[in-house]
Amino acid sequence: MSVGVTVRRYRPRDLDSTIAIYQSAIRDVASRDYDPVQVAGWSAVDRDEWEPWRLRCPTWIAEVDGAPAGFSDLEPDGHLDMMFVHGRFQGRGVATALLNEVESLARRLCLARIFTEASITARPFFERRGFTVIAPQVLEFEGVTFKNYRMEKLLR
Ligand SMILES: CC(C)(COP(=O)(O)OP(=O)(O)OC[C@H]1O[C@@H](n2cnc3c(N)ncnc32)[C@H](O)[C@@H]1OP(=O)(O)O)[C@@H](O)C(=O)NCCC(=O)NCCS
Repeated sequence: MSVGVTVRRYRPRDLDSTIAIYQSAIRDVASRDYDPVQVAGWSAVDRDEWEPWRLRCPTWIAEVDGAPAGFSDLEPDGHLDMMFVHGRFQGRGVATALLNEVESLARRLCLARIFTEASITARPFFERRGFTVIAPQVLEFEGVTFKNYRMEKLLR
C-alpha cells in the first residue's frame, strides 16, 4: 500500500534530496547485496554531473508526509534508469507509487515496454510489479564489477 505517499515531478531544487535518497538507498539498503567496495563506487556522486543528468528526462519525486522519500525516471525509449527509495522509507509503497507514474507516462507515450537494469536488491520488487528477467549481467565501472539483471515489462 502506498499510504501517505505523494508523487510529483522533479524540480531543480530537489537536487540534494535526490542525491541523499540515492546514497541512502545504496549504502543502507543495497549494501546487503553488494560489498563495501561496490557500495562505495556505486554511491559516489559528482553533484555537477548529477544536476543536468536529473533534468534530461522526466523524473518523479515521491514524498511521505512532505519528506523526500524516493525518485525514479523514464527515458524516451522506455529505459527506467533510476528507482531509489531512502532507507527510512522502505517497504511503504514508495517505489510502487513511483512506478505507477512511470508506467502511466510510458503508456501515454505508447511505448511497447519499460526496461531497466535491476540490482540484486531491486529484482524482487520489479518481479512483483510485472517485470521479467531478460538476462543477468556483470558490469564494470571504474574497476569495480557489479552484478545486476536486465529486466523488462511489456506494455502491450
Ligand atoms: C527496490 C526498492 C526501490 C523498493 O522500494 P520500496 O519503496 O521499498 O518498494 P515498495 O514498498 O513499493 O514494495 C513493492 C513490492 O515489492 C516487494 N519488495 C520490495 N523489495 C523487496 C525485496 N527486497 N524482496 C522481496 N520483495 C520486495 C514488496 O514486498 C512489495 O510487494 P507487495 O506490495 O506486493 O507486498 C528499494 O528497496 C531500494 O531503494 N533498494 C535499494 C536501491 C536499489 O537497489 N535500487 C534499484 C536500482 S536498479
